[in-house]
Amino acid sequence: MQSDPQRYTVTAALPYANGPVHIGHLAGVYLPADIYVRYLRANGRDVKFICGSDEHGVPITIRAQKEGVTPQQVVDKYHAIIRDSFQEFGVSFDIYSRTSSKTHSEVASGFFKKLYEEGKFIEQVSEQYYDEKAAQFLADRYIVGTCPNCGNDNAYGDQCEKCGTSLSPTELISPRSMLSGNQPVLRETKHWYLPLDQYEPWLREWIVQGHKHDWKTNVYGQCKSWIDQGLQPRAVTRDLDWGVPVPVPGAEGKVLYVWFDAPIGYISATKDLLPDTWETYWKDKGTKLVHFIGKDNIVFHCIIFPAMLKAHGDYILPDNVPANEFLNLEGDKISTSRNWAVWLHEYLQEFPGKADVLRYVLCANAPENKDNDFTWKDFQARNNNELVANLGNFINRAVVLTHKFFGGKVPAVGALTAQDGEVLQQLAEFPQRIGDLIDNYRFRDALNELMNLTRAGNKYLADTEPWKLIKTDEARTGTVLHVALQMAASLVTLLEPFLPASADKLGQMLRTEKKSWQAAGRADALSAGHQIGEAALLFDKIEDATVEAQVQKLLNTKQANELAAAVAAPAKPDISFEEFQTMDLRVGTILSAEKVAKTKKLLKLSVDLGFEEPRTIVSGIAEHFVAEALIGQQVQVLLNLAPREIKGIQSQGMLLMAENADGSLSLMQPSSHVRPGSGIA
Ligand code: MF3
Ligand code: ZN
Repeated sequence: MQSDPQRYTVTAALPYANGPVHIGHLAGVYLPADIYVRYLRANGRDVKFICGSDEHGVPITIRAQKEGVTPQQVVDKYHAIIRDSFQEFGVSFDIYSRTSSKTHSEVASGFFKKLYEEGKFIEQVSEQYYDEKAAQFLADRYIVGTCPNCGNDNAYGDQCEKCGTSLSPTELISPRSMLSGNQPVLRETKHWYLPLDQYEPWLREWIVQGHKHDWKTNVYGQCKSWIDQGLQPRAVTRDLDWGVPVPVPGAEGKVLYVWFDAPIGYISATKDLLPDTWETYWKDKGTKLVHFIGKDNIVFHCIIFPAMLKAHGDYILPDNVPANEFLNLEGDKISTSRNWAVWLHEYLQEFPGKADVLRYVLCANAPENKDNDFTWKDFQARNNNELVANLGNFINRAVVLTHKFFGGKVPAVGALTAQDGEVLQQLAEFPQRIGDLIDNYRFRDALNELMNLTRAGNKYLADTEPWKLIKTDEARTGTVLHVALQMAASLVTLLEPFLPASADKLGQMLRTEKKSWQAAGRADALSAGHQIGEAALLFDKIEDATVEAQVQKLLNTKQANELAAAVAAPAKPDISFEEFQTMDLRVGTILSAEKVAKTKKLLKLSVDLGFEEPRTIVSGIAEHFVAEALIGQQVQVLLNLAPREIKGIQSQGMLLMAENADGSLSLMQPSSHVRPGSGIA
């Protein structure tokens, strides 16, 4: 690990501009990156925080085809949605660029050209899958099939999302085209390959020797297993018409592979931000480069991109790649295609002014070392028990009591007791403690430490009871509130990386500015006599109904998915007309309905079928209908089903029902009332 870098380049994975951002992206990548960067800034570090939209690649063109628009329209739409929602969420990028920009196309082309001219690629003609109907080669996600590793039927040509294995299209079992659904044929085509195998010894030394101890175990482990499996040359071009054109002769109709151009997007975005000085942030050895990504991006950032940078020769390598695991939602994997997600832009609309609450919950529950689960109940509990009852309560007590007893002026500090001294000592240690954790990418633990500071503040007030003390000892009460206010003031700085809007609000309430990180632990942020502002609530309670509505929204999604996924049962073998005619089907009218005692499912019905006597039919539908509501309804009956005794009752026929995909039942009724006993044929 670089110990004291001169500057930092911090990148966050460029999101595909083919859909909005969800809580999984935030918890895995953008929130930790933002906390890290804000912390570095508070330390006075020179840091550039780089991101932008990943606007090439097959996910974009597939989405465009589905929506019947151009790829450019897709990326324009989602680029704006993603950019704006990040901003409202408080992600403090120095630039949010896009890979369809002119700068990017120049930088990515130039990068490729240099490697090409220096002979760093292998040129190879191979057979690749081609869709004859669509007249197109099937790159990456245009081809799906069965994963040879885990048997997933919907693995893509470049990766199986189920087991995370990276694939090449020809490894897929029973491949099919995403364009036509047809079985593709093999055709010859020329491409350029980065010979990763040649970089294997170097990668092994760099990662296995060099980063075994400072990279996270999940990241190191994935890299090691990749290297141990043996690296193969990787194609860096594709037969597609959406992307950066391959800038060499004889490459018409070919573009750079999206995973070749996208990481170069970090460099071109930096160039967009700093046209004159961008090179310092990518080439100077005093720069510490850190990539924040999700775990599905590890191989690209730890093996392929570094090999590209090494091949190029001018660039520094990442110092660390703190990838997170995945966040699930209510026990299920987050999925864009199944709409199983909490979308950031929707959250911001439905919870106005509560970006910090989501930041808090996602950081407190971040999937740093293992997959974690987001639930709305946990969201509510953390808001109510931690933000409102701990952090908010501490601030509110300190501010309200200062107004009540001292007219809103910071009281003077008198002689300090042992307890005051202890609390101030703790306060002095917190910045370093929290900072060390952030330096080591342990954001959950850092946030928990921060909450320990507010817990200590609450305990201090609970122990000293200034609301009682005021009756006997005003000077001592003043000292207690003085100490409590210094703790509160430290939070303006220490909270800021995690909950920037709340830190701002707190700063306004205390009428103080944020300080440098180390100065935050000092006990002289607010001098005696300083007038503080009015008390305002930093957080408020989230009610049951609010989270229940969110859960209901997810249940609706689940139901819609199940219905959409349901396929009709296969047809039964043919029967003859004579066989069909043996069934006596009639319309009946239900005269009475009651539950069969001691059963859950059975109803005893009396049905008018046009005969002198109504028939008794026992039917297993009690969980689907209220008995009384059936009275008077017309139903379809199979009259000549052999009578059976059920729970001691003779059942003389069977009601016919339609069964929905979700198992619910629906009566088969004539479209208008008919005479009971009418035949159905
Ligand atoms: N768009 C990719 C994804 O969402 C990430 C690209 S990161 C970059 O998985 F390095 F290539 F930019
Ligand atoms: Zn698989």
